[in-house]
Amino acid sequence: MERFRVAGGARLAGEIAVCGAKNSALKLMAVALLAEGRTELRGVPRILDVELMAELLRRLGCDVRLDWEPGPEREDGPQKGSAIVIDVPAVPRTEADYDLVRRLRASICVLGPLLARQGEAKVSYPGGDAIGSRGLDMHIDGLERLGADISQEHGFLVATAKDGLTGASILLDFPSVGATENILMAAVLARGTTVIDNAAREPEIVDICSLLASMGAKIDGAGSSTLVIEGVDTLSPAPSPHQVVADRIVAGMFAVAATMTRGDVRVDGGNAAHLEIALDKLTQAGATVVPDETGFRVSMDRRPRAVDIITLPYPGFATDLQPLFAAMNSIAEGTSMVTENLFDARFVFLQELARLGASVRTEGHHAIVRGVEKLSGAPVRATDIRAGAGLVLAGLVADGHTTVSDVRHIDRGYQGLVTQLRSLGAQIEREPDPDPYP
Ligand code: EPU
Repeated sequence: MERFRVAGGARLAGEIAVCGAKNSALKLMAVALLAEGRTELRGVPRILDVELMAELLRRLGCDVRLDWEPGPEREDGPQKGSAIVIDVPAVPRTEADYDLVRRLRASICVLGPLLARQGEAKVSYPGGDAIGSRGLDMHIDGLERLGADISQEHGFLVATAKDGLTGASILLDFPSVGATENILMAAVLARGTTVIDNAAREPEIVDICSLLASMGAKIDGAGSSTLVIEGVDTLSPAPSPHQVVADRIVAGMFAVAATMTRGDVRVDGGNAAHLEIALDKLTQAGATVVPDETGFRVSMDRRPRAVDIITLPYPGFATDLQPLFAAMNSIAEGTSMVTENLFDARFVFLQELARLGASVRTEGHHAIVRGVEKLSGAPVRATDIRAGAGLVLAGLVADGHTTVSDVRHIDRGYQGLVTQLRSLGAQIEREPDPDPYP
């Protein structure tokens, strides 16, 4: 087990680059399953989740080559991400086991592609995770509307469509990212037209549509609430490598870090248009945000002002940035209300933040954060990826040392975080965690 030791007080300054988005790369890897042959992705983050997804694809019969060896080498990879090559066999296997699915919830996204291509898929039911109960009802309803039979047996979701899938009109109750992706990846090989209404509009969905289009899929409306998909008989691998869309959550983290530490950071590759509300909130907090051709720069010379935030599906404020803004609000001037609408257990993180001296009170899915002058370094525990990043940022502005344990969560989502923060002047290191109790 490892932990991060962070010394508070450094002002972050300089330039970093962002890699491709975790939440796109994992799904693009599943998209590859839709065609026999070789798909190359570029800009893939060197993170544990990508390694787990690679392992899952291997078990389905694919040959997957990562540009790096799994393990500590991840930390020093190119900041803009690495390449992976996936070779998909003519007949992939169709079963995804619990040992991987429970560690990587995103593996549920192989359900749609396997069902569409092989007429069957058996994917372990992922269960809950640290950020709360996460339903699959919309994934299942959508695939059933395309003609699949789905049952739950012995902990697995078993989906079959012996005569193939047929296009249908699907209205999602909520613009779920995962459900939109699974239905989309199935509909591209269904007979006839599928319309997904109230679809998720995230940049990662647009990225998936763009890879699918280069494989021969016919999709209209990417990035809007209505996706219209004309099914085709077969897809072929994209003729050239696909560049993964930049990680807006990583870019947003560095923007918040610059603001909290009264720093000056240019985020190369960060797409300001994908972070409109978040960057606007940082401006309200007092930061100066200047987008340029290939990134944006965030600078700050005062204590941030508290800002209210309400998480919503894209283009609303991203839930994955909520813990970072809560950390910023904890040292801001004034009191703020943080409302979490997507994941019920994301406020568990606030209890760890309180260990650093934050003044926080929660009522259901609202939290009242009263800004304090200073946080005070202490041992804390990362409970999920984004909570971990929030605690690291809190440690950067806390008096003395903060140790963040359970960094395996952070490793799931942030490539080379320690190296990048150090290059901006942060005092942070990775060290063995002497605590014998996991
Ligand atoms: N939901 C249902 N039923 C469904 C699908 C979703 O009730 O069939 C609920 C979920 O329980 C949740 C809400 O709808 O409360 C949002 O879920 P959504 O399906 O939109 O999210 P997801 O696909 O499970 C992805 C990201 C998350 C990110 C959310 C929202 C991946 C691998 N995960 O999750 O990322 O927070 O979209 O933007 O793409 C992270 O990276 O730390 C992370 C959690």
